[in-house]
Amino acid sequence: MLLTELDLPSYDHIDPTVTGAAFHAALDDLASETWIAKGFMGYAVLEREAANAVLRDRRMAFPALELLELQGVTSGPIWDRTADGLMVQSGEPHSRLRRQLAPAFTPRATERLRPRLRELIAELWEPVADTGHVEFVKTVAEPLPSMAIAELLGVQGDAPLLARWSVQLQEVFKMRLQETAAEVETAYEEARAYVFEKLAERRKEPGDDLISVLAAGTELDDDDYVTLICSVISGGTDTTEAQLAHGLRLFAQHPEQWALLAEQPELAEKAVEEVVRYEPITPFTARIATEDVVLRDVVIPKDTVLFVCAATANRDPATFKDPQRFDITREPEPVLTFGFGAHYCIGAYLARAELQEAFTYLAPRTPDLHLDGEPVFGQTTGIYAMQSLPLAWSVR
Ligand code: HEM
Repeated sequence: MLLTELDLPSYDHIDPTVTGAAFHAALDDLASETWIAKGFMGYAVLEREAANAVLRDRRMAFPALELLELQGVTSGPIWDRTADGLMVQSGEPHSRLRRQLAPAFTPRATERLRPRLRELIAELWEPVADTGHVEFVKTVAEPLPSMAIAELLGVQGDAPLLARWSVQLQEVFKMRLQETAAEVETAYEEARAYVFEKLAERRKEPGDDLISVLAAGTELDDDDYVTLICSVISGGTDTTEAQLAHGLRLFAQHPEQWALLAEQPELAEKAVEEVVRYEPITPFTARIATEDVVLRDVVIPKDTVLFVCAATANRDPATFKDPQRFDITREPEPVLTFGFGAHYCIGAYLARAELQEAFTYLAPRTPDLHLDGEPVFGQTTGIYAMQSLPLAWSVR
């Protein structure tokens, strides 16, 4: 059976400005009806097993270049950088690039950052600790991830610069390059000059940071290292910010779970797994079929775009008992939040460490955590951010 001949429900009614519980309710309704739904730009794969199968399939590629074409970009520096990037590469060229970064992202390498992560969280928190209220996004969620990346790269102090580049580089996926291309190109040029300078410095005086590891490598040229470092900067900043902010929002909405975590900090790992399951900040990732692919007896024609949905896969009732319940004591099962297969998020362990450290630090310090006004959600397409999260707690 050909995919285009199936009579499928449509997900076009799911408005990206509809957020929070209403977003999940609309998607879960659809997922209870069908494993795949039709939309104007492609198809959404909703069920967990099918979603995993798509991400595992080497014939399915990330359509970054197609997204650029849709925005009118077909050559130039943005095209070149994207084409050379980790997400677009596959097979051996992809593994070769990924191998260069891998040593910096092993659990052991990340563990070394933990004491510093704790200090950074304390530094951000201390100015507001006694006030009893905070706008969490600006105060903690936004600054922390770029500080963590700055530690990883060994460029402490340059976190604001990394944060700015991250925002500018993410523009590639925002479907408005007609307006923002010049800004993205400038960000690439600045980042390139910066990384070249740092690589040269570390060749003279190596440290134990990621730039030093890359600088010591011989497999790639410096432009490839620029591409890799840009992937780390743009992949590791807005994502963790959004996940941290959604996490605190969920806890403010489930105060008994926050109190439980404060009492039992050993639940931190499970708490993070539950947050990333319940509110994956990349609710969809995209794939394009590079040839005809058969999935569940359905032929998916070459060039079909599939949106793989972590938001429904992570609440698939076939795997998760009582999936709508937010429960930090749940036995974790693998989730789709960090993707699956060859492009599985290289920073997943670091992101989890940041979230674990933040939750462990904050839970005992913010009794009676609650919303202190309306949280402002971003759109559910791309990175599902929180724009503002006013929180309050009891100061004892
Ligand atoms: C909660 C935070 C994060 C989430 C939810 C997340 C999510 C994801 C997802 C879903 C993918 C795969 C996309 C796909 O296959 O279509 C991915 C890939 C990637 N992520 Fe993350 N990410 C997070 C944090 C980080 C961090 C902290 C870093 C780096 C420091 C990072 C760097 C990357 C890179 C470089 C890739 C591309 C890997 C490849 O193509 O081989 N991410 N991430």
